[in-house]
Amino acid sequence: MDKFVIYGGKPLKGEIEISGSKNAALPIMVATLLSPGKYIINNVPRLRDVRTMAHLLRIIGAKIEFENHTLVIDTTQADFPEAPYELVKTMRASIYVLGPLLARFKQARVSLPGGCAWGPRPVDLHIKGMQSLGARLDLDGGYIVARGTKLTGTHIYFDVSSVGATGNVMMAAVLADGTTTLENAATEPEIIDLGNFLISMGARIEGLGSKIIQIEGVPGLHPSDYTVIPDRIETGTFLVGGLISAGNINLKKCQPRHVMKILEKMKEAGATISVSENEIHLSSEKGIQPVNVTTDVYPGFPTDMQAQWIALMSIARGSSVVTDNIFQDRFTHVPELNRLGAQIVQKNNSVFITGVKKLNGAPVMSTDLRASASLVLAALAAQGKSDVLRVYHIDRGYETIEIKLQKLGADIVREDSGEVTS
Ligand code: EPU
Repeated sequence: MDKFVIYGGKPLKGEIEISGSKNAALPIMVATLLSPGKYIINNVPRLRDVRTMAHLLRIIGAKIEFENHTLVIDTTQADFPEAPYELVKTMRASIYVLGPLLARFKQARVSLPGGCAWGPRPVDLHIKGMQSLGARLDLDGGYIVARGTKLTGTHIYFDVSSVGATGNVMMAAVLADGTTTLENAATEPEIIDLGNFLISMGARIEGLGSKIIQIEGVPGLHPSDYTVIPDRIETGTFLVGGLISAGNINLKKCQPRHVMKILEKMKEAGATISVSENEIHLSSEKGIQPVNVTTDVYPGFPTDMQAQWIALMSIARGSSVVTDNIFQDRFTHVPELNRLGAQIVQKNNSVFITGVKKLNGAPVMSTDLRASASLVLAALAAQGKSDVLRVYHIDRGYETIEIKLQKLGADIVREDSGEVTS
């Protein structure tokens, strides 16, 4: 297994390009199952999760080539509507195949994902959504076995706003008979991107980006080429990297309007920010001010930036509170940050941070993507050497993060840790 060896204390300086969005690319890849044919998807990040999704699509029968950042997916021969446990357990986003498989093949066999590294993450809203469209779903040996001779448009109210359930049900509803209305739908940019891709395939969808999405089913779709939006969480992570290291960075090929809340909080925390159409410039002359954040659905502060924000606040000039309202138990980074000298106490879904003057390098490890990213950020600011172990978690969601950080002047290298996977 690989680790990162980081010598902290160097300000990040220079410019890098932001990659395509992981959480938009994954459902867009899956949506190609809805209509047989060849698709060209551009700006796809080269990530472990993308490779896992490609593997799953190949099992279903798609042919896939991935060169540079372009995926060529041919779903003409796709004929095996199944997502096996071995894959779903490594990537929950695999559940996205349920909707498209049901819509195209009228049947699906998809493993239940089970828990994840930071607690239970149910899929009940996905299941209820498919049932509302008229599918029959049974549980058999840990698998959702779905049949839906005919999906019929209906009105669905989501008790909780869910990115995954909105995307999944939207993909099933585009080929249903009649109109489907999704109420309390997710408004995240990744769902808008998925919706726009479906529209480019011939789907009829209105209200993307609002809490009410209307989908008028069509009898068939057609393949289409598409370019994925930039990754707003990678953008936010590098912005925190700029401020936590007292740096001066320029992020290119990003989408500033998708990170407005993060930018607002970065400014409150002392960053000087300027934006142009696809670029964000950050400099930091004022030190880090303590700023509370509470995560919320878009356009609120994203849960996927909670861990990175806690790393930043750990060396702020004062105390702050970070509350996660989306996932209640996503704090595996907290004890590890404390090992670097941070002073953070967790109580329920909030953490109370007393900013310290400096962090000190140490070996640290996490079992989750964003938590691992927060450890890298903290290590960049810490004095001395840190080993961040198990970086395969980071590789799930950040494209060659160490190369981008090296480009910005960080002292970070990837090495074999000698640890073997159990
Ligand atoms: N929820 C339910 N039932 C469901 C589905 C969700 O109760 O059937 C609850 C969850 O427990 C949570 C809330 O709804 O409290 C929101 O979860 P959501 O369904 O929106 O999350 P997700 O679709 O599983 C996506 C991202 C996550 C990101 C969340 C929230 C992908 C592939 N994953 O997950 O990204 O944290 O939305 O924005 O899009 C990451 O990239 O590190 C990551 C975890």
